[in-house]
Amino acid sequence: MSDNALYVSYNTVHKLVKSLSERLLASGYDPEVIVAIGSGGFIPARIMKTFINRPIYAVGISYYGVDNKHHEHPTKIQWIDEVQNQLRGKRVLLIDEVDDSRVTLAYCIGELLKYEPEEIAVLVLHNKRKEKDVEFPPEIKRYFNGVETDDVWIKYPWDAADIEEHTAKEEA
Ligand code: G4P
Ligand code: MG
Repeated sequence: MSDNALYVSYNTVHKLVKSLSERLLASGYDPEVIVAIGSGGFIPARIMKTFINRPIYAVGISYYGVDNKHHEHPTKIQWIDEVQNQLRGKRVLLIDEVDDSRVTLAYCIGELLKYEPEEIAVLVLHNKRKEKDVEFPPEIKRYFNGVETDDVWIKYPWDAADIEEHTAKEEA
């Protein structure tokens, strides 16, 4: 692993999602809809659809400004006005790529709970082992993470300029 970051390839992402889908089904949770938090949750959510075949609704939340400084709180940059009623009474699977400070995830959960889904389960590829800035609300009873990591920067394949180099760095 170079420059103290964790390089993750597309193949690894795909296998992580597959094993998460198996754990999800083994847990007895049968989601009716997927909500993907953009942009990092989009590709994991699409791969999950291959295994559980549920519709995907996409939301965009931003916690970093253009200057990379934190907003005071996460802000919605895209929301699902026309489909919010689709969540009422439904079992939701909320997908993001990483559970870092948990601020964005918790904010998104709080907004989705306003639509009174039956349940929201949270699923992420990576959970960073660290003290979180916020906890999940008590409504969250099911949480799945693919891998627990140290508090390092994770490099996802969709951010790579040179995918061959990126993939090779994972193996290095
Ligand atoms: P959390 O609730 O999911 O823990 O997210 P948090 O607010 O702590 O993170 C703010 C942004 O930083 C999120 O992106 C999150 O995906 C991104 N992030 C945190 N740690 C890492 C990491 O190790 N690697 C990468 N690549 N990103 C990380 P965002 O504002 O939602 O934007 P986007 O990148 O998903 O579009
Ligand atoms: Mg993200």
